[in-house]
Amino acid sequence: MPTTTWNRHHVLSLADFTAAEYNTVLQTAASFQEVLSRRTKKVPTLQGQVVANLFFESSTRTRSSFELAAKRLSADTLNFAAATSSMTKGETILDTAKTYLAMGTDIMVVRHREAGVPNAIAAEMDRLGVKVSVLNAGDGQHEHPSQALLDLFTICTLIDPASPRLELLKGKKIAIVGDILHSRVARSNIWSLIASGAEVHLAAPPTLLPKLFAEYILEEAGVKNQQFIISSSPSSPSSPSSPSSPSSPSSPTPYSPLPTPQLFLHWQLEPALQNADFVMTLRLQKERMTAHLLPSLREYHQLFGITSTKLQLCKPNVKVLHPGPVNRGVEISSELMDDPEFSLIQSQVTSGVAVRMALLYLLGSGKA
Ligand code: CP
Repeated sequence: MPTTTWNRHHVLSLADFTAAEYNTVLQTAASFQEVLSRRTKKVPTLQGQVVANLFFESSTRTRSSFELAAKRLSADTLNFAAATSSMTKGETILDTAKTYLAMGTDIMVVRHREAGVPNAIAAEMDRLGVKVSVLNAGDGQHEHPSQALLDLFTICTLIDPASPRLELLKGKKIAIVGDILHSRVARSNIWSLIASGAEVHLAAPPTLLPKLFAEYILEEAGVKNQQFIISSSPSSPSSPSSPSSPSSPSSPTPYSPLPTPQLFLHWQLEPALQNADFVMTLRLQKERMTAHLLPSLREYHQLFGITSTKLQLCKPNVKVLHPGPVNRGVEISSELMDDPEFSLIQSQVTSGVAVRMALLYLLGSGKA
């Protein structure tokens, strides 16, 4: 294993991750990627430890890859699904967590449709003075740290398979397209990509990328990262802009309070795609929409759906990512999704196991 920079007890958000922590996860995941390429893919690292997957919301890839990751590390795994649990009889979330604590759980992997549930469980474990770590596997519209870390690992290993590291993304243009308002993946990706020094371009219709979101990011940025910059340019993506107030979706005036723009907002797709190195498209999260935010899925696909034709605006060797699950023909064309020349979607799923092994290892290795 690489020399580690790691003092974290829980992984709940990437907002305060340091460059050293990102690189520790990337290098540790690279080591486990190598383990996973062997004939015997199992190591005894977490033997005797218990990993509980507490999924209060549906999941295919996150739950399965955390389970596989735990098994590859020789941990014992417990899988919980809310629909078949005693929550149907009125048991609370914290009582459920304490039940798994009483069974000797060392790491709780938590997904919930409400933001803040993993933090609440972590706070309860800390209050009880137990050494249980909590890993956020996606909470409402808040964050999905392990997804953003596996996205980072997928991109970095494509650039340098032998030594994936944060600085490989410095200066790369990365477009994040789609339902940004409802996306926990987008929020975690914004933190990791900004930390890498990449130029991040967010593109969505105004209803899915409202000014309020920009203000939220600016507020977070003001506190946490002075390099974090909003440029709300619907038409000219990369020109350094004159300081002015944030523009409305219909205004052509870009906004950039600092001289080195790193984060841009677009209400059109084309300026975000122009010369992009990577395009991350997001699922339309209809289950989190409380109003009719789009005229029709067909119009959305025409304006913001990623297709092979639209990719011609990007760099020739552009790659496309999607966290899954995918609405084929809505946020991405079915043909592009299955095109191995451009699509990294299957690689993302594969990377997920190594990255989740790294996270479980980093949280669990101090416990035995
Ligand atoms: N990307 C992701 O979180 O997928 P699942 O909902 O299938 O876990």
